[in-house]
Order: sequence, then structure tokens, then C-alpha cells
Amino acid sequence: MEIIFLLNGEEVRVSGASPTTTLLDWLREERGLKGTKEGCNEGDCGACTVVVTHTPGTEKGAQAVNACITFLPQLHGLAVRTIEGVSGPDGALHPIQQAMIDEHGSQCGFCTPGIVNSLVAAQIRGDRGFDRVLSGNLCRCTGYAPIIRAAESVGDDPERDIPKWLHEFPADDLGGSIACAPESSDELADWYAANPDATLIAGATDVGLWVTKGLRDLPKPCFLTRCWDLHRFDFSGDQMRFGAMVSIEELRTHIATAHPHFADMLDRFASQQVRSTATIGGNIANGSPIGDSPPALIALGARLHLRKGDTRREIALEDFFIDYGKQDRAPGEFVEAISIPRQPDRLKCYKLSKRFDQDISAVCGCFNITVEGGKVTAARIAFGGMAGTPKRANAVEAALIGQDWTEATVSTALPKFAQDYTPLSDMRASADYRLQTAQNMLRRYFLEDQGTATNVLEVSV
Ligand SMILES: Cc1cc2nc3c(=O)[nH]c(=O)nc-3n(C[C@H](O)[C@H](O)[C@H](O)COP(=O)(O)OP(=O)(O)OC[C@H]3O[C@@H](n4cnc5c(N)ncnc54)[C@H](O)[C@@H]3O)c2cc1C
Ligand code: FES
Ligand code: FES
Repeated sequence: MEIIFLLNGEEVRVSGASPTTTLLDWLREERGLKGTKEGCNEGDCGACTVVVTHTPGTEKGAQAVNACITFLPQLHGLAVRTIEGVSGPDGALHPIQQAMIDEHGSQCGFCTPGIVNSLVAAQIRGDRGFDRVLSGNLCRCTGYAPIIRAAESVGDDPERDIPKWLHEFPADDLGGSIACAPESSDELADWYAANPDATLIAGATDVGLWVTKGLRDLPKPCFLTRCWDLHRFDFSGDQMRFGAMVSIEELRTHIATAHPHFADMLDRFASQQVRSTATIGGNIANGSPIGDSPPALIALGARLHLRKGDTRREIALEDFFIDYGKQDRAPGEFVEAISIPRQPDRLKCYKLSKRFDQDISAVCGCFNITVEGGKVTAARIAFGGMAGTPKRANAVEAALIGQDWTEATVSTALPKFAQDYTPLSDMRASADYRLQTAQNMLRRYFLEDQGTATNVLEVSV
């Protein structure tokens, strides 16, 4: 197996490494590039952030990525910049490095390479939403005000680095050099049908932790990064279709026009780094009861497209989740895409977690209620964190449909949550809290629909 990528502008070829070697370990242990720090080794702190640039035409551009949960084969054909490679060839500091000094944005310095790299990637993308950009970079000592000041003091200069950071490898160089890294969903379908015991690896934001924290061996890993057709989205016709490898960050930006509240909720999905690599297919296929995209997608009536060999089938997304740890997916079958019917926007998504950023949901409630002539004519409500799977609130929906859209109807529907869900108590929330907050979310949906402002970020006295 030979993995080829650009590291700080130079082509590197890695042979003989285990396919589950993380970029972080390789940088520090094999290349002696110790500027990339190890904090948590699980994608939480951002100390290991590097900049990854995709080849032109993939639309992904420059991304801040957590090196600790990125396996080397995911980088095949891409370009990586570590903190050692962001300064100019003459050693001149990158403007963001200089600004961090000028604005006193660093004290112990442990977080600083990761913070600089997150800001460099954002600068290349022309993204000035610095709170969001830095949501995956933990700084324990400086405090964020000087860091944000540093970020704001540097102008947009997206042209600065792109040409020198991108590099297109000749296809002959790349093809077939990795054990399992199919170049299309057709190739994947053939191979996976014949090797159903393989572990598919999409963004590795779950699978990475099986290795770094679970210390698991993955005997037959198969990397989907290069299945370029799975990265596509298509908004033509009466549905929006997202390939399984579309990242959560791409979903966030592309769903914003049709369903802005879904995009707002995805702002709070993990961090910029995790969202850039985590995929919509992985978020569904992992079957997690607390994944953030399934409740919203179920509320929108999304359909899941599955494929095994040449056989394709399509199911309602809610039917995919059979029970805790059990999904409707045969051995050798994979998620190919998800499609969402076009519809007027009535979707609201409420994510409750202990922290605002970079935290898994305790409860995530998504509501899509249609009201015509003062009556509820349709309702799709789905929750994460309330059962062993993402699950629809069938009894609540039934109590609303056909009724006047009034506070009295909402009050009558509230006890039905206890019919739909018997949530667990765990470290994130108690069962009572979950039931109560789920009810409050329906109240909130109703009140917002009546024009009452409920922005929880606004403090009023
Ligand atoms: C720090 C951190 C914070 C996080 N915060 C959140 C959060 O706020 N909300 C949230 O929902 N999740 C969160 N996660 C979990 C994770 O990011 C998501 O579940 C993510 O969407 C997984 O996608 P992936 O592409 O990384 O999947 P991977 O890790 O590559 O794979 C996950 C599983 O899906 C399978 N798989 C992947 N693609 C396919 C496919 N096309 N067909 C069949 N099987 C497939 C894999 O074999 C594996 O079993 C967080 C993770 C980390 C590390
Ligand atoms: S070491 Fe903490 S995110 Fe990688
Ligand atoms: S400067 Fe010490 S952790 Fe940020």
C-alpha cells in the first residue's frame, strides 16, 4: 500500500504503514513535526488541527481537520499543511501568526498551532464566522477575546495560498495504490458485496475513536474518501439528494436556503473540524440514537438509498432504525444517498446539550407541522435522545393532526409524549428531564409560530 499526498508543499509517499495509522502519530513519530499537538486524541480539543486542501473541482476547498482521528489513507491525493508549513518559505510568519502575537492571543501555546491552522483554513475559504470556526479549538489559558481580535485583524486574502497549496496528482500515480480505496460507488459496491466483513470508513469521526480510544484493530478497512460520486449533491427536480459522503459542513451550507433552522442546528454539530470530515452517510449508518441529522431528516420525510452490488433499494429513513444497535442494512450493503422532498419550510430543530458547541445532544427534537386555515393538516415530529433509535412521535402527531392550531390543542398533545417515548436516564439527562424538555420544545414551536421570540442566546432583564 502506498499513500501519496502533499505535506507542506512536498510530495510524500508512505509505504508499509498500517492503514489505521493516524496523521497525528505519523507526523510526530515518523516526521518529527511536533508542532501538531496531541491533547485529547479524540477530536475534541483541536490541538492537532492541520489544514487539508482538496484537489480543484471537488468543491471542498481548504478544511481544518483533526489529525488525531484522520487515518493516512484518507489523505491520498490531497494536500496537508501543518503549522510548520504555514509560514512563508523565507520563514516569514503567516499574517495570522503575526496577529496572534500582536493581539496577545497565546500564553502556554499548546492550543496555538491548532488555532492558527483553523484560522488559516477559514481565511482561505473566506469564512469570517470566527466563533463557529473556532468551536473545535479549546484554549485553557488565554481566553478567546484576544484570539478573536487576532482573527478579525487579518483581512480576507483567499488568493494568498491556494495555488501553492493545491496540487493535482496524475491519476496514474494514485489509482490502485491503496489496499481498499475505491474510486467510485460502482467499485465500492462490487468490492463490498464480496467483502461484507469489511469496515467502511467515511470521515472516521466515529471509527477514528474505535482505534485511538478503543484500541481496536480494523482487519479490513475500506476508505470511501475517493468515491467521488458519493460526494455529490443534486438539487434539481422535486427533491434534494445528498450522496453519502457529503460532509455535515456541506449539508449545513447547502440546506440553509431551504431549511435554515436545520442549518442553524448543524452549527452546533460537533465543531468545524469534525463537521468538515464527518459525513451524512456515517451519521445515519452508525445507527446512533443521538445523531443530530436523523431527527431533522425524518421530520422532513427523507428517503434513504441503499445499495448492495447492483441492487438498489429506497426506504423511509425512520424505517432504517429498527432498534438500538440494529439497522435495516444487509451485510455488504451500504448507504448511497439520502433524498429530501422539496416542501415549504416549516421545520424547526431544537438541540439540547450541556455545552453550546462541540457536544452530543441530550435531546434533539425536530418539528415539521403544516397548518392550513388554522388547522393542523400534517405533522412529522422526530426525536433523538428519547429512545434507543431516532424515533417519530406518532401519538403526538396524531393528537395534533386535524385539530385547531391552538394552545389548547398543544396542551392536549403534550401527555402523548409519554406514549411515544420512555427515555433513559444517563449522564446527559434524566428520563424526567428528557420528557419535560421534549414537551417544552413543542410549546416552543407553537409559540415561535405565533411570533413569540424565544432566542435562548438573548439575555433579557
Ligand atoms: C468530537 C466529536 C464530536 C461529535 N459531535 C457530534 C454531534 O454533535 N452530533 C452528532 O450527531 N455526532 C457527533 N459526533 C459523531 C460523528 O461525528 C458523527 O456520527 C458523524 O456523522 C459520523 O460520520 P463519519 O463520516 O465520520 O463516519 P465514520 O466514523 O467513518 O463511520 C461511522 C459508521 O458508519 C459506517 N459508515 C460510514 N459511511 C457509510 C456508508 N456510506 N454506508 C454504510 N456504512 C457507513 C462506518 O462503517 C461506521 O460503522 C461527534 C464526533 C466527535 C469525534
Ligand atoms: S488531539 Fe484533541 S482534537 Fe486531536
Ligand atoms: S494558550 Fe494555553 S491552552 Fe491556549
